[in-house]
Amino acid sequence: MTVSVIVGTQWGDEGKGKITDILAADVDLVVRYQGGNNAGHTVVVGDKTFKLHLIPSGILYPNCCCVIANGVVIDPTVLLEEISILRKKGIQITPDNFKISGFAHIILESHKELDNRQENRRHDEKIGTTGRGIGPCYTDKVKRSGVRMIDLFYPDELRKRLIKNHDMNETDIDALCKIGNELKPFIIDTSLFVNQAISDGKRVILEGAQGTMLDVDHGTYPYVTSSNPIAGGACIGVGIGPHKIDSVIGITKAYATRVGEGPFPTELTDSLGDKLCQEGAEFGTTTGRQRRCGWLDLVVLKYAVRVNGITSMCLTKLDVLDKFDSINVCTHYELDGERIDEFPMALHAFSNCKPVYTTLPGWNADTSQITRYTDLPKAAQAYVQFIESKINVKTSMISVGSKRNQTIHLVVV
Ligand code: GDP
Ligand code: IMO
Ligand code: MG
Repeated sequence: MTVSVIVGTQWGDEGKGKITDILAADVDLVVRYQGGNNAGHTVVVGDKTFKLHLIPSGILYPNCCCVIANGVVIDPTVLLEEISILRKKGIQITPDNFKISGFAHIILESHKELDNRQENRRHDEKIGTTGRGIGPCYTDKVKRSGVRMIDLFYPDELRKRLIKNHDMNETDIDALCKIGNELKPFIIDTSLFVNQAISDGKRVILEGAQGTMLDVDHGTYPYVTSSNPIAGGACIGVGIGPHKIDSVIGITKAYATRVGEGPFPTELTDSLGDKLCQEGAEFGTTTGRQRRCGWLDLVVLKYAVRVNGITSMCLTKLDVLDKFDSINVCTHYELDGERIDEFPMALHAFSNCKPVYTTLPGWNADTSQITRYTDLPKAAQAYVQFIESKINVKTSMISVGSKRNQTIHLVVV
């Protein structure tokens, strides 16, 4: 493993933070390539819980350098706050172990206001955004009216741009420049830095945020985020060539969740859904919203394998299924009496798809302390094998709890 992408295969919150942290023990660089503080990546170490929104999930290792690359959108106030929280918890953050791309776009106050105003105007067609200004910031980037971290070094030019394009007043501009000054020591050309590291044989993780089905091109548009979480997004979001990527690790929750609006065929709105939510503590890391819960969807998973080119899978939160007598897995859909095996292109078609399930026996046993695959109950092994056989990808890790030691490593042959 030299350069690996970590990508969510569902609607986000698959446990990317936990898995990145585990793998980061043996890597030199962890790089975030898209999204912003709409992400909430949880890492639990001993009795400490770290909720990371912008800083990559390798930051807990002193020898791991963390990079926020060009594809990320940065709210400077949130980033400074996150640095300060981590420092208070004893984590060192210096220009040696933390870098920010000068190309990364800045989320302005007006982006957050617009995000919330747009949501309110959508009435019954709300996306259910995180309200962090993500969409409006990426919109300005594509419209070519955004401002970037590098602009903080040229206050006169920045001032002109902020007045012309964003109608910003002097007091707010001064406040932004002041906050920006504190981030300046971290700003470099991260594409140059990451490419050099790869040439030097360093081990790199490119940490995706959100998930495949929230991808603006390949997800459940328009109920998506405004960036490309899929593996291909990593090349653009970091500034590396596609041939530099050696593996793509898909992170898949053993069931499915979604926060915000949008179609979700395997959603359970009954007591089983409530049970999944309760057992999995499914409340958003960023907004605290209750996540919608449902069964694992193999149509979505196969699609994620395809659009990301996934080479191995990590199955997370298997322990959450410990207390179910039987477990459903969606193998395909039915739509107007027809069998559907692939994610349909039209949103209304996807919304109307009825999941067809295979029911597998539950294991009714505590898996949360198991560290060897062969020690898992036979029914749990059968669940993993069923998924593998349907998606044709091997599982390299199984997570059975939020802590580092609640992890089963498998040898992929
Ligand atoms: P991310 O956005 O993909 O990094 O995922 P989140 O951190 O938003 O959500 C995953 C939640 O599940 C966090 O609270 C994790 O601490 C927790 N978690 C991760 N892996 C496991 C697991 O295997 N079992 C259980 N029970 N919780 C887990
Ligand atoms: P991590 O990285 C789950 C969802 C929002 C909303 C949609 C658009 O923790 O997995 P946005 O604010 O991005 O414009 O909202 O995307 N969303 C996430 N859902 N996990 C995330 O990140 C998410 N980031 C955005 O709930 O439905
Ligand atoms: Mg999350």
